[in-house]
Amino acid sequence: MERILIDLDRGWRFALGDIGAERRNSHADSYGTCKAGAVPGPGGKNWDDSDWRELDLPHDYFAESDFSPDNLLSHGYRTRNNAWYRKTFLLDPELAGRQLLVCFEGTAVNAEFYFNGSLMARSFSAYTETVFDITDRAYFDGRPNVLAVRINGFETEGWWYEGAGIYRHVRLYAKNPVHIAHNGVFGKPVLNPGTKNSWTVEVKTEVENSGYESADAVVRAELFDGEAVIASASCPVACPADSVTETAVKLKVSRPRRWDVDDPNLYTLRVTMERGGEPVDSADVRIGFRTFSVDPEKGFFLNGRPLKIKGTCNHQDHAGVGVAVPDSVQYYRVKRLKELGTNAYRCSHNLPAKEILDACDELGLIVMDENRRFEAREEVLEYLDIMVKRDRNHPSVVFWSLFNEEPLQNTAEGAAIYRRMKSRVLKLDDSRLITGAINGSMEGAGLEMDVTGINYNIYNVEAMHALHPDRPVIGSENNSAVSTRGCYKSDREGAHLLACYDEENVPWGQSIKETWDFTRKHDYFSGIFIWTGFDYRGEPTPFEWPSVSSSFGIMDTCGFPKDSFYFNRACFTDEPMIHILPHWNHEKGEVVRVMAATNCEEAELFLGNESLGRKPADVCAPPEWQVPFKAGRLDGEGLPARKMRMPGHGTHCRETRRHPPHPLPLLHPGRRSRHGGGEHRGGGPVRHHGPLCGHPHPVRGHR
Ligand code: GAL
Repeated sequence: MERILIDLDRGWRFALGDIGAERRNSHADSYGTCKAGAVPGPGGKNWDDSDWRELDLPHDYFAESDFSPDNLLSHGYRTRNNAWYRKTFLLDPELAGRQLLVCFEGTAVNAEFYFNGSLMARSFSAYTETVFDITDRAYFDGRPNVLAVRINGFETEGWWYEGAGIYRHVRLYAKNPVHIAHNGVFGKPVLNPGTKNSWTVEVKTEVENSGYESADAVVRAELFDGEAVIASASCPVACPADSVTETAVKLKVSRPRRWDVDDPNLYTLRVTMERGGEPVDSADVRIGFRTFSVDPEKGFFLNGRPLKIKGTCNHQDHAGVGVAVPDSVQYYRVKRLKELGTNAYRCSHNLPAKEILDACDELGLIVMDENRRFEAREEVLEYLDIMVKRDRNHPSVVFWSLFNEEPLQNTAEGAAIYRRMKSRVLKLDDSRLITGAINGSMEGAGLEMDVTGINYNIYNVEAMHALHPDRPVIGSENNSAVSTRGCYKSDREGAHLLACYDEENVPWGQSIKETWDFTRKHDYFSGIFIWTGFDYRGEPTPFEWPSVSSSFGIMDTCGFPKDSFYFNRACFTDEPMIHILPHWNHEKGEVVRVMAATNCEEAELFLGNESLGRKPADVCAPPEWQVPFKAGRLDGEGLPARKMRMPGHGTHCRETRRHPPHPLPLLHPGRRSRHGGGEHRGGGPVRHHGPLCGHPHPVRGHR
């Protein structure tokens, strides 16, 4: 009788507004509101929702709402509203006797959860899962069961678009009363001291007996490499009635393949509970073997080698769907960031969807997992527990970040809150680097961190390091460079456009080249997290209405690359690449500023067959040409430094120019390269062809 996982995403009814609010005035409804099973109105069992809209989850209803300049700027000017969701379902009589847990993985912003006419839980967090036990209230006899959720869409927890609704998955877990508790398995891989690759996985399991009879059981832990069990251990456990007990076993593992950003090997840890030799429950988690550390002088190390963190910060919404992002799109987003050449992801400024962490595990991105609220009160500490318990098996999670830019960060109070929160994390996981994102000096909370996260302030980092040379540091938030995809002339006053030459940023931010130039030259600076990988709704900085979305993204809200994708990629990757901007559709005679984003040592530009000059190149000093526009073909060619060349490939640029051996794909919308595109993998020159313009005028048809 192992656990059954039931997907509750489908078949919901939805209604906007404070449905039934007027009924609360009656004495009967006031009375019922206070009684188990008798909640009146849409939270109750008998409310007629037959004319409500039918939908499947996840769902974000703010993504469907209107814009108005009277609404919150930071949240993208969406019209806010409350709403109700209801789901009616039958439970199989065979489930009777099991423990039934409902898990809402994410509801924005605040929510009340009802089941069969009783209030079961309240959530004051848009980012934390809400779990409640319906065992004692469920019907198995053919009577319908009713889940109802009231969403308070007027609260805010952030200063960005947060969406509204049941925007992550909803699951029902049906378990034997003697079972593994929710998020109750922690597998902590520890490298055995003095060995190169011999490990112990310390497996802790919370065993719960939700029944009223005590039981004896066995907890078995097995580590799988694919289908093969490579280590196992077990221990007996006494489970008193209505109790939670923690067990610990150790698995010895020799020479596992490491989890690394370039080779993210994963293993499955399965914990099974057995009674009388029969399995009664089991839970699988994925783990990985890696070491990491941070040194105040030498920066971050992964698996014993220095690794510069090249990360992005991201909010969670995507084009079209708002925050109700389908799992495949979560994977797509992380994959795009990997293609950009990043090796890290900061979940700013909140607990992410689980699917993002799964994708980071699989694709090899280091995660800074971030808590939303900074406080020492119990509710916030409980949210912190949920984050750590849910996410501590993911090998990608290397940092726990406890706050972002808190007004109290530099005070004694701030330091005290931080210490309390850090201590709470350590009770559940002592194997991560605990950080936070300061903006200002390190005093106060910044000095309590394992590694101090510094937002922006790139030109103050030297002074901060000089003042606290014993403190490891990392750029927790960088750049805030802004650009509009496909735009090469800024218009801040009129059309709200920001040119893509890496020259536009906010007053507290820096350009890509400024940040990277500092980062690459200072070993002690562990790396950066660029604000942001993707554009997001809200924070239309530096604009206000009618702009509703941010412009910080390296990609737009769909994941289409801006030119900054290539400026960043040049900094982040070694594989030779070149990208030229802008497009090649202009007025005859117009002098066009052409720039090359390249990691090559030199770049040459060609208009047709005519060379416009070869220039030295650097990722932080992209070469430029002033080119009078002429219809035809514009090619950029990069000449990789010797160290970038692969064996067996020619390096004679002139030959290669006449017969470009490894053209890059067209990087603008419209036309594909006549060479068929494809990634450049060789050691010769690399070319980027601008779009063709067959006729001088008009040019629009050719984009
Ligand atoms: C930071 C803040 C981010 C975002 C960013 C915009 O100070 O941490 O959440 O608002 O500014 O530049």
